[in-house]
Amino acid sequence: MHSITTYAPGKLMLMGEHSVVYDLPCLVTAVDHRMKVTVRKTDDNKLTLHAPDVGVIDYQCAISDLTLNTPKPAQFVEYGVRNFFQTFKVTSGLHITSQSDFSSKFGFGSSSAITVATIKGLSELFDIHLTNKELFDLSYKTVLDIQGKGSGFDVAAAIYGGTLYFVTGGKVIEPIKVSKLPLIVGYTGIKADTTTLINKIQMKLENDPLSITTLFDDITLLVEQGKKALINSNMKLLGNLFTNNQLLLSKLGVSSPELDKLNKAVQEAGAYGAKLSGAGGGDCMIALSPPDKELEVSEAIKLAGGTHIPITTNSDGVRVE
Ligand code: PMV
Repeated sequence: MHSITTYAPGKLMLMGEHSVVYDLPCLVTAVDHRMKVTVRKTDDNKLTLHAPDVGVIDYQCAISDLTLNTPKPAQFVEYGVRNFFQTFKVTSGLHITSQSDFSSKFGFGSSSAITVATIKGLSELFDIHLTNKELFDLSYKTVLDIQGKGSGFDVAAAIYGGTLYFVTGGKVIEPIKVSKLPLIVGYTGIKADTTTLINKIQMKLENDPLSITTLFDDITLLVEQGKKALINSNMKLLGNLFTNNQLLLSKLGVSSPELDKLNKAVQEAGAYGAKLSGAGGGDCMIALSPPDKELEVSEAIKLAGGTHIPITTNSDGVRVE
C-alpha cells in the first residue's frame, strides 16, 4: 500500500530556556539529526508500531482502543494518531515505523521530532492539508498530553526548521535569517529529565517570585540581544551572551558540575562563550569559538570528559520524501 515518509529535525536551545515556559521568548535552532517516520494504511483496524530505536518491535493495538501503554517514546506516535483521528474524524488501520539518526539521550528533541513527523505523515496520507501553525497546534497538544508541561519550542523547531525567535505556546514563531551558526556541542553523558527541572523552577517561582522573575527578565534581555547578534552574524557577541545566560541559569540552579566543567574547559581553550542547552542538569552544552580555535575547543570537551557531537545548525524543518 501507498506509504509516506517524513523527516523532522532535532533542536538545540540557544538562549532563554526555562523563562520561555513563562510567556517569554527564547532562541532555538534546528539541527540536522533527524527522526524518520513512515506511515501506511492497513485494512486490519490495528495500529502496528515498529520503533526499534526505543525498543518497540511490532507493537499492536486496536485502532478503536489506543491503549497508550507503549513505552514513552512510542506514546508520542500513539497520541499523535489519536489526536489526528479525533480532530479530523478519520480512521484506518495503520502501520508506522520510526527511525532516528540521533540518540534520544542527547536531549535533541526526539519526542517532539517524532510527534511532528508522525502528524505530518498522517496529514499527507489522509490528504488533509495542515498549515505549519495547525501542525504546530496539534503536535504541541500531543506533547502536552504526555509531558504535561513545556513551551513547545522544540515542536516549532521540528516544523519550521532554521533558527527561531519563539514565545511560549507558539504565540510568536519568528524565523531569523541566519547566515552562520557554527555551534560546538558537548554531551555531558548525563541524561537530564526536563519535567523534573521544570517542576523545580516552578517551585522556586512559587517560593521566591521576586528573585526568579528578576532572573527571567535578565535572561530575556540577553535573548533580545542574542537575536540581534544572530541577525548580524556577530558570533563573538553571541558567545559572550551565552556565557552571561549560563551565569543566570547557574543562579536559577539548573546547571551541574559536569556542565560547568565542560563550559570552563571550552572557555580556557579559547571559546567566545558557552552555556548549557535545554533544561540543564545534564544533556548538552553549546559553545561558539573563533574559527581557528574550533579544533582546540572540541578537543577540550573530550579532555574534560564530555563527548563532542558534530552537528549542522539552522537545518530545514519537517519534510516529506
Ligand atoms: O530539556 P529540553 O532540551 O527539552 O529543553 C527544555 C527547555 C525548557 O525551557 C526548560 C522547557 C521548555 O519546554 O521550554
